[in-house]
This record gives sequence, C-alpha cells and structure tokens, in this order.
Amino acid sequence: MEGEFNTLIWLIGSGLPLNKYKKWEKGIIVHVVSLEGYEVIDSQKLKTLFIDFFREKNHSVISNASLVPEGDPTVLFTPAGMHPLVPFLLGQPHPLGKRLVNVQKCLRTDDIDEVGDDTHLTFFEMLGNWSLGDYFKKESIAWSLEFLTDRRWLSLPKERLYITVFAGDEGAPRDVETARIWMDLGIPKERIFFLGKKDNWWGPSGATGPCGPDTEIFYDTGKDPCTENCKPGCSCGKYFEIWNNVFMEYNKTASGKFELLEQKNVDTGMGVERTVAALQGMRSVYEVETFKPIVEKIVDAAVTADPAERSLRIITDHIRAATFILGDENPIVPSNVEQGYVLRRLIRRVIRHGKILGIESEFLSVLANIVIDLNQEEYPILLKKRDLVLNELRKEEAKFRNTLEKGLRKFQQMTGDKRKMSGKDAFLLYQSFGFPLEMTRELAQEKGISVDEEGFTKEFERHQLLSRAGATKRFKGGLSDASERTMKLHTATHLLNEALRRVLEKEDIVQKGSNITPKRLRFDFNFDRKLTDDELKRVETVVNTQIKRSLPVEMQEMSLEEAKTRVAQGVFEQKYSEKVFVYFIGDFSTEICGGPHVKNTIELGEFKIIKEESVAAGIRRIRAILE
Ligand code: SER
Repeated sequence: MEGEFNTLIWLIGSGLPLNKYKKWEKGIIVHVVSLEGYEVIDSQKLKTLFIDFFREKNHSVISNASLVPEGDPTVLFTPAGMHPLVPFLLGQPHPLGKRLVNVQKCLRTDDIDEVGDDTHLTFFEMLGNWSLGDYFKKESIAWSLEFLTDRRWLSLPKERLYITVFAGDEGAPRDVETARIWMDLGIPKERIFFLGKKDNWWGPSGATGPCGPDTEIFYDTGKDPCTENCKPGCSCGKYFEIWNNVFMEYNKTASGKFELLEQKNVDTGMGVERTVAALQGMRSVYEVETFKPIVEKIVDAAVTADPAERSLRIITDHIRAATFILGDENPIVPSNVEQGYVLRRLIRRVIRHGKILGIESEFLSVLANIVIDLNQEEYPILLKKRDLVLNELRKEEAKFRNTLEKGLRKFQQMTGDKRKMSGKDAFLLYQSFGFPLEMTRELAQEKGISVDEEGFTKEFERHQLLSRAGATKRFKGGLSDASERTMKLHTATHLLNEALRRVLEKEDIVQKGSNITPKRLRFDFNFDRKLTDDELKRVETVVNTQIKRSLPVEMQEMSLEEAKTRVAQGVFEQKYSEKVFVYFIGDFSTEICGGPHVKNTIELGEFKIIKEESVAAGIRRIRAILE
C-alpha cells in the first residue's frame, strides 16, 4: 500500500495525463485509473519550468544560438549549450552576468549508429544553466536535486536517481567533494558510482578549451538489470542519463596539460526529450509530443504491414535534424563538404530507410512540414525558411531517388556471394550513385558482410587529387558554390592569408577555417590577440595593392616535395599524397588549393574587411567583402 502511495505522489507531481493514475508493479507502469486536474509535463512545459526555476535563482535567460556555429571552427554544428559560451567560460565577461540559463538546439553525429534505440538522437534540445566564476559544486548539485525532486518542479522520486562522479586520474584528482555533497543531500553512497574520464569528464571538442570533471544524474527506468554489473553508464537502457553537471575548472592547453582556470565555472546540460520520456514513463523518446506526429505520418505512408521500428526511428530523428539544419539562422544546403555533407548524408539515409518501409514517393517535404509545424512557435526561423527547407529537400530527394534504386541493384551485383566488399566498389557506389560510405556499410552489415574502408579512403584520396586538376566543380572546403563572386572572394582569401603573414610579421599564420559565399569571405587563422585598427588597415592596403597590380593567377601540379620548397609553411598539416596542385598569385602568394580561382587579381574590385573577432583561444576570424 505504501508503495502505491509513493507512486501516486510522483505521478501527481510529474503531471501525467489528466484522467490517469498509474500504479507501479516492479517499477513499470501497468495500470491506469484516474487523476483529474494535473498537467502533463511535455517538452514545452519542461522547458518553461527549467527556465523559471533558474530565473528564481537569479539566472539571466540567454538566446538559443544557431545550430551552425558562428564562432567556433573546431566543430561543424553546436554540440552542446556550452559551445557558444566558450569565450565566457575562459574569462571574458558576459553582458548578461555570471548566471545564465537557456534552451539550446544541438546536433551530434558521434552517436549516429546508436540512433534507432530508445534514447540516442542526432538533433535534440538541451537545457542548461551556467555559472561563470560564480557558484560552484554545492549550489549546482543542490539546485539540480531540487529541480528534479521538489513537488513544485518535476517531482521525480529521489530513490530513482543514480549518480556518477569522476574517479580521478593522473591529470585531475578524484572528485570526493562532489560525492560528499550528494551524500549530504540524502543520496546514499550505494547509488553513487565513481567512473573514469570516458564517462565523467567533459572535454573540449577541439584540441584546447575549458573542461573539467562532471557528475551525471541517471534515472532508473525500473527495467531489470541486464547483468550483475549493470549500473549507471551501462548501455542496456535500465539507467539513462538525464542531466550532466560539469565543473569547468581546467583549460586544456595545446601541449595537452590541464591548467586550473582563474574562474571556476559550472556548465550543465539536460536533454529535453529524454527527460520528458522519463517523466511520462515512456518507452522511448519517440513518444514525446514533438516526435509522435512524425512517427504516425511515417506509419501512414509505409507500405509494409509492420514497419521496421529502427527505420521509423532513424527517419524521424534524421528528418528533424535535416529540417533544423536547413532552417538554421546560418544557411547550409546539401553539398559534398563539411556541414553540407552531413546534411546530405542524413537526407539520403532517410530516403533509404523510407525505401525499406516501401515508401517510393516524395515524403521528406511532407515530414519536414510536420517538423516545422511542431516547432514553429519556438523557432519562428523555421517558418521563415519553410520554402527553402522544402525546396532543398525536394531537390535532394528527386536527385537521390533516381540513383538509389540503381545503386542498390549495383550493390547486389557487386557483393553477390562475397564476404567482403572492396574499397574500389564502395567508392564506385559513392561516386556514381551518391552512396555515402556509412550507407554502404549499413547495407553490408544488413547482408552480414564487411567493407574494406581503408581501401575506400585510399581510392577517395586518389580521386580527389585527380579531380583537383583544373576542375571547376569540386572545391577544397568552404566554398558554397562556384559562382563568379565566390571565386573572386576565394582568390581574395589567398591574398588576405599572405597579407596577414606579412603585416603581422608571422610566417606561421595558417588557415584554420574558411567559408565563402557569394556575399563575403570568412577566414579563421592562428593569432593570439586582437588586430589593431592600424594592422587591419594595412592588411586591406596590401591586398588592394596586389589586386591593382593585375597579378595572374596560375595553377601548377607538382610533387609534394617540390611544393614544400615553394609554398608558405603550415599548409602541410593537411594530408596529401605525392601530387598536389599549387595556386600562384603572381609573385605574391603560393598555396596548395583545389580552386577554383579567377584568372587575374584585377577582376576582384575593392577589398574591405568588415569584422575581426576571436572565435576560440588563439584563433581570430576576419570577414571581408569585395566592393
Ligand atoms: N557540456 C555538457 C554536456 O553537453 C553539459 O552541458 O553534457
């Protein structure tokens, strides 16, 4: 009887559906009776509660940053709420103060193979609160527990929470302080586990950056343990992580050392979808209200009688991700490089899994429309970009649908009775039928065979070299298209790169990132301080002088050996096989590059820097235009 009573309290606070009361049996909800007048905690409600809670604790609400990062060349997409905050975690004062809270759209592709299980997603929303050198472990942990368990907030039963804490290693000590705080707050030590860096350390995505030990909060689903050793961190699904509190007190330096930061920060992240699933006792995140209508639409469209659950889930996850990428503040369209290629791979995988369900007609734009409808209130940018999103999806779907069928037939012919697919064949599927490597890998896995991935990479590199020779359709990273304006800005980027080396008298300045659209160039480079106005003026003057000199732009193919003697330092960080293509701009600049460029600098017009800023420790970014 007592058990039922506890459960009832939890159910009331956790806001299960209005007329439902569910009773526990071995921790699983089995029975529905009635419960009037209580509101369901769906994602919208959870976000509101989270923000309200931290507002009460004097946090300022910051905006949801774009999914395509503005200021961080180390990642393709924003993988966590802390990413847009890196400069502030390193000490720059934030205009809104030292306590911040927000909802952040995030995209991670590291776990893409896990998508299809109950909890892993590529695109998700993360709730976060931050202390920038203000409160630390004690307050952060106490507030997390209060938000999760207090009846005013989520009302989760405390006895279902399990905790992990950093076990310590040669770089940083065991976090006994954190474990002690949890125990003082009433979490028994049997439910606190010490784990290593792999589990309880949040590190920078790039080589350097703020980092530190974390403590993760897991929710026990009530499922039976998979083995005797089943504990938080186990992948069987019994315990799933709902919140991570990172104590960012270190900076990882370029030499790999962990130095104590001057300010101690807190960075927390709570996955919205997972937490809603836990609160509502759902089997998976796909039952959350922002997923369900998409799943239902796919089931409707599926021709197969019993649609494969994994395919349903992959389509649902990937179409959400693709819609949010296309509908981002910073435009990305499908392409063969960087973010554009991630997008293309997501879209192509959706089409392939649609085919498994027997869906042969256009369906991506139909699903994307649902994604937009479900999220437009919070993300009005999706509404503004609706036409672009739908058009790009339609174009990409039409293009790939044509070749998918043929490619699948080719795959069957190529593999026949074989146990392993050659790298050459995998590359042919990539090149002639647009099959990303992981699609071929997935097809091979389904057939129980393997793919020679090393062979694929070799073939890919060989092909890249061949096609660099004067090709106008392939670009080395960062060009959005091959329009004349983009080409002009690309040539201007080479001039800028050399001008920076000369004006700043720093031979080892190299490109750390580049993104060129017909409107502007964006160039990231290694330099550890702000450029002065005078330096910026001088860089502009050097570039404009070279433009006026009418320098010819010429390309030569040469051995890497020879290029090393003729090209500025630094570019060899990239991997090249023996032959490379080098672009010469008169006697001023030489760079290894895939092109394309204009023929003569006089075509460029007037070069103008419009912004110079920091994007990460030791990395500056210049935006410039041609007038
Ligand atoms: N950066 C941590 C995470 O993403 C906490 O926000 O899990």
